[in-house]
Amino acid sequence: MQTVAPSPAGIADERILVLDFGSQYAQLIARRVREHFVYAEIVRHNITAARIKELAPRGLILSGGPSSVYEPGAPKCDPEIFRLGIPVLGICYGMQLACQAFSGQVSAAKAREYGRARCHVLVPEGLFTGFPHDTEVWMSHGDQVSAAPEEFMPLAATDTCPVAAVKHRTLPVYGLQFHPEVTHTPLGAQVLGNFLTRVAGCTGRWRMGDFARQTINQMREQIGDRRVICGLSGGVDSSVTAALLAEAIGDRLSCILVDNGLLRKDEAGAVIEEFTNHFKTDLHVVQGEERFLKALAGVTDPQVKRQRIGHAFIDCFREEASHIDGAHFLAQGTLYPDVIESGAAADGPAATIKLHHNVGGLPEELGFELVEPLRDLFKDEVRRLGLQLGLPEEIVWRHPFPGPGLAVRCLGEVTRERLETLREADAIVVSELRAAGLYRATAQAFAVLLPVQSVGVMGDARTYEDTVAIRAVDTDDFMTADWSRLPADLLARMSTRIINEVKGVNRVVYDISSKPPATIEWE
Ligand code: XMP
Repeated sequence: MQTVAPSPAGIADERILVLDFGSQYAQLIARRVREHFVYAEIVRHNITAARIKELAPRGLILSGGPSSVYEPGAPKCDPEIFRLGIPVLGICYGMQLACQAFSGQVSAAKAREYGRARCHVLVPEGLFTGFPHDTEVWMSHGDQVSAAPEEFMPLAATDTCPVAAVKHRTLPVYGLQFHPEVTHTPLGAQVLGNFLTRVAGCTGRWRMGDFARQTINQMREQIGDRRVICGLSGGVDSSVTAALLAEAIGDRLSCILVDNGLLRKDEAGAVIEEFTNHFKTDLHVVQGEERFLKALAGVTDPQVKRQRIGHAFIDCFREEASHIDGAHFLAQGTLYPDVIESGAAADGPAATIKLHHNVGGLPEELGFELVEPLRDLFKDEVRRLGLQLGLPEEIVWRHPFPGPGLAVRCLGEVTRERLETLREADAIVVSELRAAGLYRATAQAFAVLLPVQSVGVMGDARTYEDTVAIRAVDTDDFMTADWSRLPADLLARMSTRIINEVKGVNRVVYDISSKPPATIEWE
């Protein structure tokens, strides 16, 4: 599948390029730059100086990376980039590379340094304008600059790292051994801000509205007069993708919503309403409930559930897509965190989608070209974009939901009745959380129906009924998560309502496991 990445060329005259040396933080750096209202784009580390000149960015940020600069085969940059006169900020590996390029020495530190360190600021101006003499920074390195090149002057030091920040004496080349992009460096945003405004001369004009406008223009150019199919899942990512396309190409967008019978209460309805009445798209709703339930009959193994759902989804989607004439593109709401591998696009990392998180893992044989307008953004940026495009808060702020839907929250066999029980219990959890004003403060909250029955009493009668678990987690990245400390009286209200209002449930438990070692979902 070929990827059409609407790389927002000309999105801003104040562009920063982040050269990616394999850092887990490259996307975070780009996002931190955007927080200063400056557009940032991630490019491959070996982009040529000539190409950089063409792109005319205001500054370059060289990311960290897992390699050692002195190792054979370590990723390098074109050494010419330091002499273009374009301000450069090297972070960790990036700083070591900059120093090496000017004949400085990089070697293994006595001990790997990982965690917080006290940083003594030697020159409280430029990058460190407004800094106290002493500040906390986050370190994560095995190597360090053991001898700074002659042309460089030290700007800061820690007890174990004498060259914690440097500056070239005449060229606009800077380096930081610590990570300004992580929140554990409390003044990290200020160092980056100083680089952007004081060194690179950015004024911070970029806004999410610019992204919308430029991306819409770009998509119009790329799509021409051809047709695009967009799969709507009910979630925020696919909704924002469809909204952008609706603005860009109007009636040449066809949306397919596969209602698999595994969605949350009122979920399909809200999306159908929005994309029929507001965006007026050509919306195809596939009533797939019967088909999915049939595919799931008798299945209890979570992975088999996922596979069966994936296949049923592809069948439904393919069938519906075959009724849409002349479609050339398939739009997907892939976000930056889903983009994990380097490769295809002209300057940037390519879209290799985590199948696990893909709408349903649409296969290449469908033969579409991909359009992925959100592939440079983080979830919260996508939400801001959604609001900008006029999507309702209900859709924009909806908690993430797994592609296989309620099936992986209905432990044991998935039947229409059990789904109905789960859907009602889930709706109560969500509505009580909203009523308590805690919905947005919680990353994900939902009900799980357990395949466990237990004894209870109702009135004078003994019952033997189902158990519902409530799961609520706090997390930024969904890779690690902690269980939400929801107030006890809120949990009590959820429990009372579920037991009173949902037929067949006589017990509610609260999940107090963190991830790892547990996962967010139960299957
Ligand atoms: P876990 O359970 O792995 O979940 O801690 C992390 C995040 O991923 C979501 N998730 C899925 N999303 N298809 C999806 O599209 C899936 O099969 C799937 N499984 C988990 C989960 O809801 C959480 O946000």
